[in-house]
Amino acid sequence: MLKSRRSITDLILHLHPLTVPRETLRLTLSWGLGGMAAVLVGLLFLTGILLLLTYQPSTDHAYSSILILTREVPFGPWVRNIHHWSANLLVVIAVLHLLRVVLTGAFGPGRRLNWVIGLFLLFLLLSSNFTGYLLPWDQLAYWAVTICTSMLGYIPVCGLWLQELFRGGAEIGPATLANFFVLHVAFIPGTLFILLLWHFWLVRRAGGLVQVERDEQKTGERVPTVPNLIVREAAVGLALIAFVVVLAIVWNAPLLEQANPGMSPNPAKAPWYFMGFQELLLHLHPVFAVFIWPLLGAAALLSVPFWSETALPTGVWFGSERGRKLAIWTASAGALATLALILGDNLLLSTAEAVAVDTLITRGLLPTVLLIALFVALSFLLVKKLKYTRAEAVMAGIILVLVALAVCTVIGVWFRGAEMHLVWPWGQGGG
Ligand code: HEM
Repeated sequence: MLKSRRSITDLILHLHPLTVPRETLRLTLSWGLGGMAAVLVGLLFLTGILLLLTYQPSTDHAYSSILILTREVPFGPWVRNIHHWSANLLVVIAVLHLLRVVLTGAFGPGRRLNWVIGLFLLFLLLSSNFTGYLLPWDQLAYWAVTICTSMLGYIPVCGLWLQELFRGGAEIGPATLANFFVLHVAFIPGTLFILLLWHFWLVRRAGGLVQVERDEQKTGERVPTVPNLIVREAAVGLALIAFVVVLAIVWNAPLLEQANPGMSPNPAKAPWYFMGFQELLLHLHPVFAVFIWPLLGAAALLSVPFWSETALPTGVWFGSERGRKLAIWTASAGALATLALILGDNLLLSTAEAVAVDTLITRGLLPTVLLIALFVALSFLLVKKLKYTRAEAVMAGIILVLVALAVCTVIGVWFRGAEMHLVWPWGQGGG
């Protein structure tokens, strides 16, 4: 008993140092979001292995194997539901974790590489969600993957090649399912696992979580990891597992009729985490909606820690009280402005028949130039006129982009009905 207890402690101490600064035990510093993401990854691996006992990756048998799982296998629906909810929650938690890293200045020197690895983790878990989406081979899966892989086709030069590579041919069919299955159960989890270990190791190498910078920091009180940190991590982890388990009991993962390539649902929507881009597609030239804007966003996120003075003071949410107010103001203004732009453009599109969404200049270059000019003007206003720091201006920019994407996602998921027209979901004929 004593021996096994020591083995567990040894394992824990491979992931954590022997002692941690007392200050980093504060739950409000990180809200345990990284740990929650790790717990969800654990749940996904575990339930994923169980699902593999029944699932059959062929277009003839995939759907019926899910039916067997949900109707005949003891606890089958429950395992499937835990897998589904963990995967979806993971996207939300990982984005919140990214936001907390930004808002507590945790991507500065010493943590830059970990930020980049984190972004790759985010990309991998989105890919994992997306490849898993096709596996039940129902109408929802088939058409969501059709929508997303046709978005790929808009990428200049190599778009059609990429589309065909993912689909394993011109159309979605057995080869697509085989490709997605291998990516979902082997390639992505393997890469995710390696990057996760690297991510955790870099947190440890950086001396643990970010702390408030003080002169006397070196002499700040340290406490043993076991039990102080472990008890807190276990509490957050167990509470999260309880939440997912209950969610999986009360709410089933969706399963529509078997995939029917001849009958497209109306509207055909991408999975919710890509709906922001599908919403952009309604307003912008496709090349800009699915390629140039996401590319600009990804390049900015990847490079932001490497520009000088972009991280907020470490360990203090929003950097200061002034920073907190700026964040709230930016989030509110960004949400209202995005909503106004969507509604305004919708009005324009529905009144002026002649407005075509695929006009390269008016719906591609012009909005892009305007967007870049807006960011330049905003940073000039914040830094030069209102005397905010560079880091606060960068924080405001990241909040603006994330809030705009969130509003596009909410509109796309709940407020778009047949033909992707705007609808009131609770009213008559809502989508
Ligand atoms: C599967 C997804 C992810 C998992 C499981 C994960 C896990 C963790 C854990 C356990 C920590 C330490 C504790 C904590 O912050 O709560 C951490 C820290 C960190 N993560 Fe992640 N993470 C993920 C995704 C991301 C993403 C998307 C980013 C941002 C791009 C990111 C950037 C960072 C950084 C910079 C730190 C160091 C923070 C600090 O020192 O305070 N991670 N991550």
